Amino acid sequence: MTGETRKRKAEHIRISLNRNVQARNVTAGFEDVNFIHKALPEIDRQKIDLSTATFGHKFAAPLIVGAITGGTREAAKINGTIAEAVEQLGLGMGVGSQRVAIEDKKLEKTFAIARKKAPKAFLIANIGGVQLINGYGLKEVKKAIEMIEADAIAIHLNALQETAQPEGQTEFKGVLEKIGEIARELDRPVIAKETGAGIAAEEAQKLEAAGVKGIDVSGTGGTSFAAVEYYRAKGNENSFQRRLGEVFWDWGIPTAVSIVEVSQTVNVPVIASGGIRNGVDAAKSLALGASLASFSQLILQAAVKGVKETCNELSLLIDEFRNTMFLVGADSVQKLRTTPVVMIGKTSEWLRMRGFNVEGYARRGRN
Ligand SMILES: Cc1cc2nc3c(=O)[nH]c(=O)nc-3n(C[C@H](O)[C@H](O)[C@H](O)COP(=O)(O)O)c2cc1C
Repeated sequence: MTGETRKRKAEHIRISLNRNVQARNVTAGFEDVNFIHKALPEIDRQKIDLSTATFGHKFAAPLIVGAITGGTREAAKINGTIAEAVEQLGLGMGVGSQRVAIEDKKLEKTFAIARKKAPKAFLIANIGGVQLINGYGLKEVKKAIEMIEADAIAIHLNALQETAQPEGQTEFKGVLEKIGEIARELDRPVIAKETGAGIAAEEAQKLEAAGVKGIDVSGTGGTSFAAVEYYRAKGNENSFQRRLGEVFWDWGIPTAVSIVEVSQTVNVPVIASGGIRNGVDAAKSLALGASLASFSQLILQAAVKGVKETCNELSLLIDEFRNTMFLVGADSVQKLRTTPVVMIGKTSEWLRMRGFNVEGYARRGRN
């Protein structure tokens, strides 16, 4: 069983690095989100304060690296590399699902390396929501947290991925209630996290009522797990799964839409992820209501090269983020979060149909 899980994890990394598993005919929606350029920024670019406090932790900039991996030697290297980079830059990171190490103690070190290399950074443990109705409880969740001395734990929701993989677990009845039990009893924040299909307002409301302290929307438009499973099925000549992976490749709620749906509905901090590919996308996420923006695929590509390359990529992202703040005249993250944005196209249409106040964003700061 564990051998199978490890093999699957290794395949996820290999496929994500070597195949195009990005959304094909849908985007995350950031091209529909427009800042209003300020010809008179009236601030000093060098004096912009990028720091922010979320989940009781101070981040040097509101950027983190999303959950990616663990369980194999290669994964340990990736986790260690990302950890070293986020520690240097004062950011945070999530590790991949820790199920493999809960089932096989020998693999704990492939996750624990994150805390070893990042003694101060904000670290997010990770466990699958569906595991909570397959025998996992508070004990396993605590074990995941202790393994990396995590500051928070993400419980990931991956219904789409489970349907697209041959070994998928699709009995999701009762997941919400179990998340609630964990959230109530745990002394660390529980973050509900999608894995590339987005979270709608209705679900966000239920999750907040259940007691989660944060929501990572992980919307559609970036890495598609249906696509990853398509390539795994292709390798196995499993035509049923292959067809599912292909048909559901672009399934889900685009990230920009999901950020608005969730942040306009709940009060807990929102993490934006899914197809965030530069510092401008990240800044747009914050203007739409997110507290942190998170990158997975982009940093995975850098992490397999090394610490220097990862630091370099993250520094570029920070610089792009700073530049965006400069051009909209926002000298603090708080100001960026209330700067006007004009939504057009599909993103605007989707949100209007769902009853969200798109004009409210565009008219910020005007009477
Ligand atoms: C190789 C790979 C493995 C992943 N494994 C996990 C995981 O174990 N748990 C999880 O919550 N998300 C996992 N994700 C999803 C990411 O955290 C993120 O939500 C998703 O990739 C969308 O972001 P992106 O478009 O920047 O890649 C994984 C992503 C990739 C690329």
